[in-house]
Amino acid sequence: MPATGAKPLGAEDEVSAARSVQQMFNSIAPRYDLLNHVLSANIDRLWWWRTARRFRSVLARPNAAVLDICCGTGDMTMALLRRRPSGARPILAADFAHGMLSRGALKFGGRGAVALEADALHLPLRPASLDLIVTAFGFRNLANYEAGLREFHRVLKPGGQLGILDFSEPGGLIGKAYAVYFRRVLPAIGRLICGKEGPYSYLPSSVGSFPPPPSMLALMRSVGYEQCSWKPYTFGIAGLYTARRPE
Ligand SMILES: C[S@@+](CC[C@H](N)C(=O)[O-])C[C@H]1O[C@@H](n2cnc3c(N)ncnc32)[C@H](O)[C@@H]1O
Repeated sequence: MPATGAKPLGAEDEVSAARSVQQMFNSIAPRYDLLNHVLSANIDRLWWWRTARRFRSVLARPNAAVLDICCGTGDMTMALLRRRPSGARPILAADFAHGMLSRGALKFGGRGAVALEADALHLPLRPASLDLIVTAFGFRNLANYEAGLREFHRVLKPGGQLGILDFSEPGGLIGKAYAVYFRRVLPAIGRLICGKEGPYSYLPSSVGSFPPPPSMLALMRSVGYEQCSWKPYTFGIAGLYTARRPE
């Protein structure tokens, strides 16, 4: 059966899955940035930068309405902000974990982005109001992927663009070597730095159950997006899905 959404250990339905994700991110928020950079050897910065560069033409439009959903501690938002002209309309940076969002707001607050505490599956935004939605390493955590894509489709203007940056599982020899790191070494380092067992065991299991690119692309098309594609980053360890709401 195809994956419908994130299922943290012990979650029985979508409501408890979302609550468990929210609690988990609130609990690791103080150590999140440090862990991110250590565990990815800073490659995450390159991935955020490439994602922002992909959308440079829409970001360069001062009036473009842009949402970074699941913004967490705001590093994707900061990469998007670097592509905004001065005086541009503020980026909306939204997350449902207060601990993550408040740290993000310290970085981007007053610098061209505003923080919004909101659930990606129920955005407090008008239909057809956004030119661009970007989400980095957040989509995989949604309790229902199809519902997330539908909600993004609802709030995007016709012709609006979507970018979903997330982890993937590379194939071949690199994939085998990476799997050892991702499934064994990474959870051990994560446990050591943040002193908790759950979150960094959840990470590899959530990537393992996330739909692979062909299934994600099929899901995006079935929801009504066009020009759906996936670009692997760093041997396919991560990758960027892009799509457009038809005119
Ligand atoms: C792995 S962090 C990514 C943060 C940031 N985008 C980055 O690239 O570092 C995932 C974020 O998604 C948020 N998130 C997960 N499900 C969400 C939902 N349904 N609505 C809003 N935020 C959500 C979590 O609270 C967390 O801050």
